[in-house]
Amino acid sequence: MYWLGIDIGTGGSRALLVDAQGKVVAGFTAPHDDITMERPLWAEQRPENWWDAAQKAIQGVLKQAGVKGEQVKAVGLSGQMHGLVLLDADNNVVRPALIWCDQRSQAQVDAINAAVGKNNVVAHTANPMLTGFTLPKLLWVRDNEPANFEKAKKFLLPKDYVRFMLTGVHATEVSDASGTGLLDVVTRRWSKPMVERLKLDAGLLPELKESADVTGAISKAAAKATGLKEGTPVVGGAGDQAASGIGNGIVKPGVASCTIGTSGVVFSYLDRPQYDPDGRVHTFCHAVRGKWHVMGVTQGAGLSLQWFRNNFAPGAEYDSLMAEARKAPPLSQGLYWLPYLMGERTPHLDPIARGGWVGLTAKHARPELVRAIVEGVSYSLRDCLSVIEGMNVEVNTVRASGGGAKSPFWRQMLADVFHRSITTLENSEGSAYGAALLALAGCGEYKSVEEVCDAAIKEVESKVPRVHEAAQYQRGYELYTVLYPTLKPVFGLINQMG
Ligand code: XUL
Repeated sequence: MYWLGIDIGTGGSRALLVDAQGKVVAGFTAPHDDITMERPLWAEQRPENWWDAAQKAIQGVLKQAGVKGEQVKAVGLSGQMHGLVLLDADNNVVRPALIWCDQRSQAQVDAINAAVGKNNVVAHTANPMLTGFTLPKLLWVRDNEPANFEKAKKFLLPKDYVRFMLTGVHATEVSDASGTGLLDVVTRRWSKPMVERLKLDAGLLPELKESADVTGAISKAAAKATGLKEGTPVVGGAGDQAASGIGNGIVKPGVASCTIGTSGVVFSYLDRPQYDPDGRVHTFCHAVRGKWHVMGVTQGAGLSLQWFRNNFAPGAEYDSLMAEARKAPPLSQGLYWLPYLMGERTPHLDPIARGGWVGLTAKHARPELVRAIVEGVSYSLRDCLSVIEGMNVEVNTVRASGGGAKSPFWRQMLADVFHRSITTLENSEGSAYGAALLALAGCGEYKSVEEVCDAAIKEVESKVPRVHEAAQYQRGYELYTVLYPTLKPVFGLINQMG
């Protein structure tokens, strides 16, 4: 028998089949359409496109592995977090989804803080309200598109829309719900005071489960569309970061992960909810029952490199960009990259921060431009790690995953910048793998999520910090940390000018 994990990412949907030992049998990715950016800092995708891609990915992985639908025992879902999908009374999508990196809702964040009280928001949800969270996006639609808001009868997160298409059930789970701004993260329940103070209809909220709970079963129509068997159970799964946490075995103290996808995340396990007093990192429910996690987020991690490639090196493979970066020396001859292409979360919580190179001279060429990007993203991830360490959360080693971590050059740089060993796992599938492990745990194959992680996850390689380079990057990081506060007033002026 096999278990299926499906990750609804930003760039594409990936389906991954594992066996009872958690060994990967096959994986298949179907790409998504590009993000639509009607204005700077706006970002939308069509949920129907995710469902199309999910169907292709499921069909593709079954075909590739030569596995029949009836051999799949359970399905787990993971996906990009925070996105707003609105369904009408007939379960049709009301408008394109405002996705995780959409930053248009500052006015709604201010209105939430005014209505509820900034401190109460933290008391009710364990986090400050941010433009990236789902609630301000929902209120943006209420304020700016009343006809669409009127039509909306249910809101769902991205992977939960795919769950709906698979099972006909409107449900989510606690890890993804943590990023809505509507979950009481401590009690793992929707926050009544938030719903009531903001005069929202509680009927808009989907049913809430734990990550390894079964939420429904593959419907007849979905069986026809995907090749899965009708009645196959679908477990809650997790937001992509918590799923990646499971896929990386971050289920006990001391080990953290660093995931470089479109966004970049440093993620650490918590036995009990612990907070950064300034709210610079998120304290969210983990996909492990009764546990939490903390994570710092760089908005434009892989996105920085993708942006560079699309605009200056169309068609180039990431490997060849990395080879080019290696030609430049550490610190890129005094060139620095600010990865704030979609504002920034950790540590600045600033939706209007702007990206760019600082320190260009006529001597710099493409190798320095690319290397500076890789260094700048690494410094930004170090910012995430520093805030987490500042909360006295123990971090001994860091496990790397995501597209960026496939590069040994980048992993070594992370080890040098973090002053920590960076390990890789036998399986670097991250979110889709975590979703498959949750399906394994949720269907009684293992006693708990921790048990399946213990059985399936193995470290294979470690990059150790090098003394000389670590000292060089320390100086680079110190300079990098001066750039944001210095440029902050300029970002404000640019924003005012529109
Ligand atoms: C997490 C976050 C991103 C998205 C897209 O808070 O916003 O990780 O889930 O990957």
